[in-house]
Amino acid sequence: MGSYFNFFINYSHVRMKISSIQAQEILASGGYPTIEVIATLEDGAQGRASVPYGASAGTHEATVMTDGDMTRWNGKGMLRAIDNITQKIVPVVVGMDAYDQRKLDQEMIRLDGTPNKASLGGNAILAVSVAVANAAARSKKTELFAHIIDTYQTGVSLHTLPQPMVVAIEGGKHADETTDLQEYCFSAVRKNTSVVENVRMIMETYHQLAKVLKENKLSTNVGNEGAFAPNGIPSNEAPFGYMLEAIKRSGYKAGEEIGFSIDAAASEFYAAGKYDLKVEKRQLTAAELITYYESWLAKYPIATIEDMLAEDDWENWTKLKVIADKYKVPLIGDDLTVTNVDRLQRAIDSNAISAILIKLNQIGTLTETVDCCMLANRHGLMTTTSHRGGGETNDATMVDVAVAVGSAFIKVGPTRGERVAKYNRLMEIERIVNNK
Ligand code: PGA
Ligand code: ZN
Repeated sequence: MGSYFNFFINYSHVRMKISSIQAQEILASGGYPTIEVIATLEDGAQGRASVPYGASAGTHEATVMTDGDMTRWNGKGMLRAIDNITQKIVPVVVGMDAYDQRKLDQEMIRLDGTPNKASLGGNAILAVSVAVANAAARSKKTELFAHIIDTYQTGVSLHTLPQPMVVAIEGGKHADETTDLQEYCFSAVRKNTSVVENVRMIMETYHQLAKVLKENKLSTNVGNEGAFAPNGIPSNEAPFGYMLEAIKRSGYKAGEEIGFSIDAAASEFYAAGKYDLKVEKRQLTAAELITYYESWLAKYPIATIEDMLAEDDWENWTKLKVIADKYKVPLIGDDLTVTNVDRLQRAIDSNAISAILIKLNQIGTLTETVDCCMLANRHGLMTTTSHRGGGETNDATMVDVAVAVGSAFIKVGPTRGERVAKYNRLMEIERIVNNK
């Protein structure tokens, strides 16, 4: 550790060829395969990547290519995407300069030739993109976040690091028979508190939440993201009450130290112009839903809201943004914007969001991810870099990206190895940056 200070060496005139790429299936957190790639450079430096995928993926995301061969993995194998790496990507990228990540990514985008990476698979392209970035950082003997800052000249100072946005209760597609909304998170909202302290405070509160749920005769079994997923929760509003009680019992101040972030993932309960709240046995129009949300903004210490409306319900996003602005609550686009500069630009032009969720696999290369974050930064939009619900891995690259682009938060679940790997990396980065 501490090698981050090599960041100050100027590598702009140095080249380092990619000498080999190896790709294989590994298991992701949901028990189905994903792709792992190991990239080796001519100096022997190696980098690894294993790519995640979502459970409630947006329609406009880059393609996650699966085999569809029902004799293996219920059709969810990834050998086709891996073949694309070995047969099509490797012949083009081996010999390319690993220090020129933009050129590498552009070459893979060109080779694919589709707007959503449908021909090679976003999963295939991203695995190579990220493995090479990790190898290049190793080769430069620097930290990945420093390599990203250097490569893209992001201008991020590292004085403030991303803070934890921890999923506490999950529902929607991430669990059975619970809330219609997908995520209720504890977010660190106090300024100038260390990541380590914020992680501790929030996790203490998460453990208090277990007690509160039990007292309310709700189970503390966990869902896809390692957050509580209680069956039989009485309404979509009920989690706020439990979470407020947990914050109080932990001795922290709601709104001043710990706030709430909600991700409705509303595309999942939207059909034919209505939002179907099954838990509450009612179907609402967008206008009615916005009124319902506004009652929460007025009552609870809400720090951010995300995907509160469906992914193509543009005009209602603009209406909700007016309300969110009134309460000074950032409105985050996720399925709406899918880490895509074109969709982000449309959201900026139509005044639909004030913040954006960032997921590398939504777009499929490191370069496009960073470009999206830079566009957000130029327009004063906050970024939150996020894990995936369906198939996560122990790869913590998303954390280094969050640091390198100056994200305000990382959104990750509270328990399970593939989740805590992200918080552990963020805490490690805090120690590296503070030279401890
Ligand atoms: P997903 O959910 O990874 O299952 O799409 C995470 C989110 O919507 O933020
Ligand atoms: Zn989301």
